[in-house]
Parts: sequence; C-alpha cells; structure tokens
Amino acid sequence: MTPRLRQAWILLGLGTLLAGCGGNQNTVAPASHPERSVADVFWVMLGVSCVGFGVIVTLLFLGWARRDRPSLPGGGGERAATRVVIGLGVALPIVLLVSLFIWSDLFVLRSVAAPTGRTPMTVRVTGHQWWWEVRYPGSGVVTANEIHIPVETKVTALVTTDDVIHSFWVPELNRKVDMIPGVTNRLLLLADKPGVFRGQCAEFCGLQHAHMSVEVIAEPRPMFDAWLARNAKPAPRTNALFTRNCSGCHQIRGTSAKADVGPDLTHFASRRSIAALTLPNTPANLRDWLRDPQHVKPGNRMPDLPLKQPQWVALQRYLESLR
Ligand code: CUA
Repeated sequence: MTPRLRQAWILLGLGTLLAGCGGNQNTVAPASHPERSVADVFWVMLGVSCVGFGVIVTLLFLGWARRDRPSLPGGGGERAATRVVIGLGVALPIVLLVSLFIWSDLFVLRSVAAPTGRTPMTVRVTGHQWWWEVRYPGSGVVTANEIHIPVETKVTALVTTDDVIHSFWVPELNRKVDMIPGVTNRLLLLADKPGVFRGQCAEFCGLQHAHMSVEVIAEPRPMFDAWLARNAKPAPRTNALFTRNCSGCHQIRGTSAKADVGPDLTHFASRRSIAALTLPNTPANLRDWLRDPQHVKPGNRMPDLPLKQPQWVALQRYLESLR
C-alpha cells in the first residue's frame, strides 16, 4: 500500500467513525430526560474505562521500566506485590463493575422505562419488512413511518412486529427496544423540545434493513391535536384506478381499500417521506417510486404495476390529493 493510499484509508476510517457520533441520530445529544440518563451511562462508562485503561498501561510501563528490580517502589516483598495484584486486579474491578451494574441496570434502566400504569397517551408501533405501522388507539388514526407526539408528554409506545424481529430506536429520545413476534414491548417516548427525531431499525431484518427508518415529530399540543384530528378524517374521495391496482395491499380509510399489507395511505400526501424515509415525498420521487419501486428499494413488497402513461399520471394525482 502506498503512503498516500494508506493516508486516504485512515482519513476515510476516521471520517466514518466521527460520522457515527454526530448527524441527526445522535445518542449523546439527548432531547429527553430518559435519553439524558442513557447518555450519562455512556459518559460514565467511558470515563471509568479510560481511567482503568490508563492505570493498566501505567502499571505495564512501570513493570517494564523496573524489570531488573523485582521489588515494589516502597521496598515491599512478594507478599506486598500479591496484595497489590489482588487489590487492583480483583477487588477493585469487582466493586467497580458491580456498582456500574447496579446503577445502570437497576436504576437508570428502570427510570427510562415506560411506566406500567397508564400514560397520557399510547401509540402502537408495528415493524414490517421494511416499514413502520403507527396506530393511535381511540382515534382510528393509522399512519406509517412517522410518529407524531405532543411535546413534554409521556407517550407509551407499544411495539411489536408483523414478521421478523426488528428493533425500534430513536437515539435522541430513548434506548432501543426489540420488536419480537407475538410479544408487545413497551418504551417511553418523551421529547423535552419540539423537533424531528430520526430513528432506525437496529436489528438486521433482511435486505432493506438499512432503509427502515422512522421519524418522531414532536410538536406543541395544539399542533399535535390538529394533526390528529386531520388524520382521523377519512379520504374525501375514492379512485377506481387505485381500488383496482392497489387495494390488495393498502388501506385508504373511507374507501373500499382496506388491506394492511402495506402502509395506510389515507393521508399519504401529508407525509414527509416515501418508503420509510428512503426518499423525500416530492412529485418527482413519487413518480419514480410508483413506476419502479424495486429500483429504489430492491426486495420490497411493492410490485410493478401494468399501467399506461395517462393512468400513471392519474394515480399520482390521486395520491397527491390525499392530504
Ligand atoms: Cu427492521 Cu432491521
């Protein structure tokens, strides 16, 4: 490897490493009390590990520097040396690890968990290959790949899966939680400030695992209430082209399309993305997605449709009218 190539590799590696820390899925930029506790665990663990590593390296260095004088600096004999090894090498790690375990597992994990009683709000999130179904019990609202919550409100997310194991993770809001077939897990969703918090499936779940992202949109209570009321309404009209070609998989509330294989599209045009954040929801992207979904997200369950140019245009217009 030439020096220049090696430099390029090192830069690439460092860049990738640093990119993992920042960006818009940042575990150490908490936007909620629970995530602040999770970030504290990270920093304390990192600090303790660094001190431990420093002590070990120093001892190794001292041992090497004094390799010709096999007694301790204070002049103690073999017995004193054994005491140092037992103290620093056995007792201290046991005390430290047990303390960290008690603090992180028994205190922090409990404090970030969803309360077992009722919280002011509940959402049901179901993982699918490769998108997220989001239901708001009591309102009839169903959406996909974006979870709206009111800010500063404790929301219990009840998560499960329709197929394989996924993992729900919005790094700025809380820890991750697995979505397991036949099991409903709970996670507390809470945002201290308004914003859009990106999440990602954190358990390898097949070909498009990487394109299984989700957004939590935290907004002031009046905005959230307006959003919920708007999304509870059925679609204003039906469309024969959609019913014929798409109703086998999708639902549009208020029409005869009632399937739940793919996302509910009742208010599709008001969503920010297509295909679980794979593409921003723009007319050009929607056109590309409809005509060749396998090109954009290979392996997804959306089939190619045998439509002609005017039909494509009409179908797209209909979807864009679903606000
Ligand atoms: Cu779903 Cu990875």
